[in-house]
Amino acid sequence: MHISMFNVPNSSPTVAVVGLGRIGLPLAVQYARHGWSVVGCDINPHVVESVNDGSSPILGEPELETGVLNMVATGRLSATVDTTEAVRQAAVVIVVVPVAVDARQEVAFAAVDNATAAIGAGLQPGTLVIYETTLPVGTTARRFRPLLERASHLQAGRDFYLAYSPERASSGHVFRDLRLYPKVVGGIDEQSAATARAFYRSVLEADILTMASTDEAEFVKLVEATYRDVTSALADEFACYAGACGVDAAATIAAANSQLYSHIHGGGPCISVYPYFLLTGVFDEPLPQLRMLIRSGT
Ligand SMILES: NC(=O)c1ccc[n+]([C@@H]2O[C@H](COP(=O)([O-])OP(=O)(O)OC[C@H]3O[C@@H](n4cnc5c(N)ncnc54)[C@H](O)[C@@H]3O)[C@@H](O)[C@H]2O)c1
Repeated sequence: MHISMFNVPNSSPTVAVVGLGRIGLPLAVQYARHGWSVVGCDINPHVVESVNDGSSPILGEPELETGVLNMVATGRLSATVDTTEAVRQAAVVIVVVPVAVDARQEVAFAAVDNATAAIGAGLQPGTLVIYETTLPVGTTARRFRPLLERASHLQAGRDFYLAYSPERASSGHVFRDLRLYPKVVGGIDEQSAATARAFYRSVLEADILTMASTDEAEFVKLVEATYRDVTSALADEFACYAGACGVDAAATIAAANSQLYSHIHGGGPCISVYPYFLLTGVFDEPLPQLRMLIRSGT
């Protein structure tokens, strides 16, 4: 365990993970395995009950079922519906509550705004708050920062640390991905970035890439997700063409991917929403050509 590397004044070694879904619950197990005392927070009482019984409500995630069972048995993992109280006790708060797009393709912030209000109500001086949910560029610094400050009567940068770190792991192999991918981190200031880096060093073996700001770290995730969405659409086109020609699309794409510059793969269902995050959000600076393509449905 490397908790001693984490140097937040007046901190107890407790992490609150807000949102115990396909990503949040594996993260909670990962942190507990590295010696932290973890309280998972979720608005769904069935999720909370299941975790407290030592049983994972998420299936199909290697290592998760035994991880939840073992970490609850050691007393290092528990769950609650009371986010505010959990945050009051926490040195670190990790937020992985979903942000999606609505029927009009507008970004739907309601769930994460609610979580942010509950976090702000319990926030204590010296706490580190890190958002991991995929977000439009500018959201951590310009939307969540004022929400947290208003609810807590504390000032980010002076009284608490605030950072953004995109979750790059995918459900179905979260623990593998946590070992594999460098952790991208950006803070609202240098101290926040350094504190977030220290936390991740205590729970991950992967390298850490520090970006200049939370905006830059948010953009990293949108770049990789949009790239995946575009190559996924291209893979679909190639599959249609291969079908018409009577050739094996999977074999052809696999052979093409053996060249360094080809990375054509199918995407997951959530990937296709993230290009919309480049169109709406805190900044009104969409990528013009991308907007044209998405809006025209081509
Ligand atoms: N699923 C993936 O593969 C993946 C990969 C990379 C990043 N992400 C990011 O992680 C986010 C979460 O994804 P997920 O798959 O874990 O979602 P999920 O739907 O599996 O779980 C979300 C959990 O958050 C809870 N929740 C909702 N509102 C809440 C609130 N106000 N307070 C506390 N809990 C609340 C829900 O009850 C649910 O248990 C995504 O929006 C995305 O940004 C997901």
